[in-house]
Amino acid sequence: MAEVLEDMQKQLKQPSKFSQKSSPPTKHGDENTCPKCNDKELVFYKVYIDEDDKVGTEWAKPCECSARKEWQRRFKSSMVPDEFVDARLDNFKMEDATQHLMHEMVLDYLRHFAVKTSEDGRRIKKFCQYNFGFLAEVGETKMREMNPTDRAELKKLKNNFGIGKTHLQMALAKKLVKDGFNVLVVSDVTFIDDLMQARKSDDNNETYSKLLDSALKADVLIWDDIGKVSNTEPRERMYYTIINERSKINKPIVFNSNEDRSSLAEKIGYAGASRLFGGCEQYLLEASGKDMRFKGSGV
Ligand SMILES: Nc1ncnc2c1ncn2[C@@H]1O[C@H](COP(=O)(O)OP(=O)(O)O)[C@@H](O)[C@H]1O
Ligand SMILES: [Mg+2]
Ligand SMILES: [Zn+2]
Repeated sequence: MAEVLEDMQKQLKQPSKFSQKSSPPTKHGDENTCPKCNDKELVFYKVYIDEDDKVGTEWAKPCECSARKEWQRRFKSSMVPDEFVDARLDNFKMEDATQHLMHEMVLDYLRHFAVKTSEDGRRIKKFCQYNFGFLAEVGETKMREMNPTDRAELKKLKNNFGIGKTHLQMALAKKLVKDGFNVLVVSDVTFIDDLMQARKSDDNNETYSKLLDSALKADVLIWDDIGKVSNTEPRERMYYTIINERSKINKPIVFNSNEDRSSLAEKIGYAGASRLFGGCEQYLLEASGKDMRFKGSGV
């Protein structure tokens, strides 16, 4: 426990140092059984009042593996996709101005988060209330409407695929999980589909409420590829509900999309989009750049 706490405290004391030396588990579910507590996370010991006390009283204290396991649980429940388990801030290559800017924005955003321990030992989480979005300069929808020649030309100048939007936001997710925040990562396609499906099921909205609740409860909701799914009115209402409810309780949404501002607004609805963008302040970037998928970059 001491080790993990010390590590976390060090990170908190140096909010501008973002390299993640002790990286999170490499795979979901990498949990070794703890020989000290057999994974009960408690270590039992006896306390004897005096020499005559032959029986003693059994006491328990948290095992040192407990903090690490807590972190692993949060990491698993955050649902960072396996593909991005190794995506970190310190392995994000910065070869051009856009990559520098995107990276800097994440570092800057992280500075709004802190975990402090109050005098009575309670942990107090301070989190950023701004949303954070990476968007395309020219969205997928517009690109698709162009003729192939123009599209190829424009793509050379304004590519937005594989430029690291998801990489950086997953790195952000992991850093926040490590620091003790509850993060939920959702991918647009499955998340909205699940919600729509749950809405239709006849269980008195139980599943639906649970899903919605998890999206509203998370300290930070990370929405990958928002606006991927084609727009319908019920979907638009779903987007609006989540965006509006989180905004009412001042909880941030971190999102990225292959659409630009106007095409994303069409996909998720203008009311939701204006809330979403309006809550970003300086943390909204329409970016283009190199497709790193073809660079054999790996992470
Ligand atoms: N600057 C970078 N440095 C290292 N790897 C990168 C960088 N940008 C992207 N990648 C990697 O390229 C792949 C595509 O990036 P991704 O974040 O999915 O792009 P996007 O979400 O913008 O389409 C991922 O494997 C990611 O880790
Ligand atoms: Mg992506
Ligand atoms: Zn243990």
